[in-house]
Amino acid sequence: MNPQPIKTRRATIAGLVVLVAAAVVIISCATIDRVVVAPPMIPGATYVGMDQCAVCHEKEVKDFKLTEHARIQIPGEGERVQGQGCESCHGPGSLHVEAGGGKGKFIISGKDSESCFQCHLDKKAEFNLEHHHPVKEGKISCTSCHDPHGKDINQAKGMWMARVNETCAQCHREQTRAHVFEHEALREGCTSCHNVHGSINRKLLTERDNNLCLKCHGQIGAGAPGQTFIGSFDHTAFLQQGTCFSAGCHTAVHGSDINSHLRY
Ligand code: HEC
Ligand code: HEC
Ligand code: HEC
Ligand code: HEC
Ligand code: HEC
Ligand code: HEC
Ligand code: HEC
Repeated sequence: MNPQPIKTRRATIAGLVVLVAAAVVIISCATIDRVVVAPPMIPGATYVGMDQCAVCHEKEVKDFKLTEHARIQIPGEGERVQGQGCESCHGPGSLHVEAGGGKGKFIISGKDSESCFQCHLDKKAEFNLEHHHPVKEGKISCTSCHDPHGKDINQAKGMWMARVNETCAQCHREQTRAHVFEHEALREGCTSCHNVHGSINRKLLTERDNNLCLKCHGQIGAGAPGQTFIGSFDHTAFLQQGTCFSAGCHTAVHGSDINSHLRY
C-alpha cells in the first residue's frame, strides 16, 4: 500500500485556529487497512473511548455500535489501540469531556466533508469528476445522504435500495414519486443507472448510451442474426437513431402516468 503524502490542514477548535502537523497513520478495521492523511487532532487532548461519550450522547452511541465505522482503530505504540469509534472522526475527546461538553468545545464538529476525505480520499476523486453532486461547492454534504451515526450508513452501500431511493426522495421528488406505470428498474435502486457521487457522463449516468438500458433489456440473438429484439419488438433500426431515452422513444425512464411503454 502506498501511504498518502503528508499534508497539513487547519482545524478550528473553540475559535482557535490550530495548525495541525499531520502524521500518516494506518487505521485498521478488521480486514482492511486504510491510510489516513491526518488523524483528527486536538492539542492537549487524549482519547477516552466511546463509553465516555455515551454518558451525554446516548442517541449517537446507540446505533453506531453496529456500523463499519465503530470497528475502526487508530493504533498507538506497539499493540496498543489509541483511539476508536467516535473519536476517529471527532478527534480525541478528553478536554471536551472535562469541560462538560458543549458546541465548539475542544471537539471537531465533522460537518466539513474534509473530515470524511481524510480516510475516503478515493471519494474525493469521484466528486471531482465533471458531473457530480455539489458537495465541494458546499450545496450538500456527505451527511445529506449518509447518516454518520446510524446503522443506515451501511445500507447506502447497495444492500437495501428502497432506503437509498428514500434518501434521494428528499431532494428529487419527481423521479421518486409513485407512477401509474412504474419502471421496475427503480426497484433495484437509482444506482443501477446513476453513479451518485460523480460521473464522466451527463446526469451522473453510469453509461452514456444505449448500454445503460441494454444491460437489462438486451436480447441480442433473439431474432435473425444482427437483430436486436427488446420485448417483442425488433429494435434494430431504432437503436441507430439515438439513445433509448431520446425524444420520441422512452423518455419517461423514471415512470409514466400515461404510457405503459414509458414513452412520455
Ligand atoms: C458531560 C457531557 C458530555 C460528554 C461526556 C461528551 N459530550 Fe459531546 N457535547 C456535550 C454537549 C452539552 C454538547 C453541545 C450540544 C449542543 O449544543 O447541541 C456537545 C457537543 C458535541 C459535538 C458537537 C460539537 C459542535 O461543535 O457542533 C460533538 C461532535 C461531540 N459533542 C462529541 C463528543 C464525543 C466524541 C464525546 C466522547 C469522546 C463527547 N462528545 C462527550 C456534552 C458531552
Ligand atoms: C464517520 C464519522 C463520524 C463518527 C465515527 C461519529 N460522528 Fe458524530 N458527527 C459526524 C458528522 C459528519 C456530524 C455532523 C452531522 C451533520 O452535519 O448533520 C456529526 C455530529 C455529531 C454531533 C452533533 C449533533 C448532531 O447530530 O449534529 C454529536 C453530539 C456527535 N456527532 C457525537 C458522536 C458520537 C457520540 C459518536 C460515537 C458514538 C460519533 N459522533 C461518531 C461524524 C461522525
Ligand atoms: C447524493 C447522495 C450522496 C452523497 C452526497 C454522498 N454519497 Fe456516498 N454513497 C451514496 C450512495 C447511493 C452510495 C451507494 C453506491 C452504490 O451502491 O453504488 C454511496 C456509497 C458510499 C460509500 C461506500 C461504497 C463505496 O463506494 O466505497 C462510501 C465510502 C461513501 N459513499 C462515502 C461518501 C463520502 C465521503 C461523501 C462526501 C464526500 C459521500 N459519500 C457523499 C450517496 C451519496
Ligand atoms: C478514520 C477514518 C474514517 C473516517 C474519518 C470516515 N470513514 Fe467512512 N469508512 C472508513 C472505513 C475504514 C470503512 C470500512 C471499509 C470501507 O468501506 O472502505 C468506512 C466505510 C464507510 C462507508 C461504507 C459503509 C459500509 O457498510 O461499508 C460509508 C458510506 C462511509 N464510510 C462514509 C463516511 C462519511 C460520510 C464520513 C464522514 C462523515 C466518513 N465515512 C469518515 C473510515 C473512515
Ligand atoms: C440534499 C439534497 C440531495 C439529495 C439527498 C440527493 N440529491 Fe441529487 N442533486 C442535488 C443537487 C443540489 C443537484 C445539482 C442540481 C443542479 O446542479 O442543478 C443534484 C443533481 C443530481 C443529478 C443530476 C441532475 C442533472 O440535471 O444533471 C442526479 C441524476 C441526481 N442528483 C440523482 C440523485 C440520486 C440518485 C440521489 C440519491 C442517492 C440523490 N440525487 C440525492 C441534491 C440532492
Ligand atoms: C433505468 C435507469 C434509471 C434509473 C433506475 C434512475 N434513473 Fe434517473 N435518469 C435516467 C436517465 C436516462 C436520465 C437522463 C434523461 C435525459 O437524458 O434527459 C436520468 C435523469 C435523472 C435526473 C435529472 C433530471 C432529469 O429528469 O433529467 C435526476 C434528478 C434523476 N435522474 C434522479 C433519479 C433518482 C432519484 C432515481 C431513483 C429513484 C433515478 N434517477 C433512477 C435513468 C435512470
Ligand atoms: C436494472 C435493470 C433495468 C435497467 C437498467 C433498465 N430497465 Fe427498463 N425495465 C426493467 C424491468 C425489470 C422492467 C419490467 C419487465 C419488462 O417489461 O421487461 C422494465 C420495463 C421497461 C419498459 C416497459 C416495457 C413495456 O412494456 O413497454 C420500458 C419502456 C423500459 N423498461 C425502458 C428502459 C430504458 C429506456 C432504460 C434505459 C434508460 C431501461 N429500461 C433500463 C429493468 C431495467
